[in-house]
Amino acid sequence: MALIELSDLLPGIRQILFNRPEKLNALSTPLMHEFEAALDAATADPAIRVIVLRGAGGKAFVAGADIAEYQGNKRAEFIAYQLNSRRVFDRLERIGKPVICAIDGFALGGGFEIALCCDILILSETAQLGLPEGRLGLSPGGGGTQRLLRAIGKYAASDLLLAGWRLSAERALALGIAADVVPAEDMDEAILRRARACLKIAPLAAAEMKRLLREGQDAGIETAKSLEQEVLFRLYSTADGQEGIDAFLEKRDPQFRME
Ligand code: COA
Repeated sequence: MALIELSDLLPGIRQILFNRPEKLNALSTPLMHEFEAALDAATADPAIRVIVLRGAGGKAFVAGADIAEYQGNKRAEFIAYQLNSRRVFDRLERIGKPVICAIDGFALGGGFEIALCCDILILSETAQLGLPEGRLGLSPGGGGTQRLLRAIGKYAASDLLLAGWRLSAERALALGIAADVVPAEDMDEAILRRARACLKIAPLAAAEMKRLLREGQDAGIETAKSLEQEVLFRLYSTADGQEGIDAFLEKRDPQFRME
């Protein structure tokens, strides 16, 4: 059975499902390889406009790195795993398409780190997010401390890291991490509602705005504002930019062609 299962929820919407429910979808080395291949395929296919990440089983999105692998690892293997995770998570963050992370249940350690690389988080009411590596005598290694700091600030991040606290769905919503919290039985519809909305955003604009949020975050405000205007001026000159304006004035749906 594949550790990653692919399906298209609708044309243009690719779901990548972590499919190791008996281990709460823990990120074993083979699973990470399949995950990267799935991301590559979805990134390369121009027909795929939105990516959805989800965990199988209903109990967890992903419960983190595979702790069983950690036990038998030599130091060099451990380091190789961490470097690979960091690289794959960075690639995920840089995908020029909207990535929706749908979290039913636990998103812990590497699972939360993956979520922090996504664009829109939809949580079931039972979701719990955390970085509990400190309880293992370790610390996160896939960018989690730094992305969390930037996402929710020092004090909320300290609560998760130093008290090992998990964020409830309600708290994640209050902190601005979650876009939506829904009952578990409404997750499918909530995912589709967001994904369909993403399909209405011009793909070139989506890619550029993702880059702006990422690069602007660590840049000075003046540099970031200049970057923003460069993006807008470039988009205005694209065929899709003109199509969007024409379609609005002609009261029709735009046909974006990524040109
Ligand atoms: N790595 C490897 N196996 C894991 C795992 C992980 N990160 N998380 C869960 N599993 C396995 C469990 O060992 C168990 O396997 P088993 O049935 O063969 O014993 C199975 O998944 C179910 O998990 P279990 O612990 O029995 O479920 P629970 O409901 O009692 O607890 C959690 C759920 C998420 C609280 C608990 O599994 C947990 O703390 N996981 C580790 C989270 C973590 O520290 N992540 C960061 C890793 S660096």
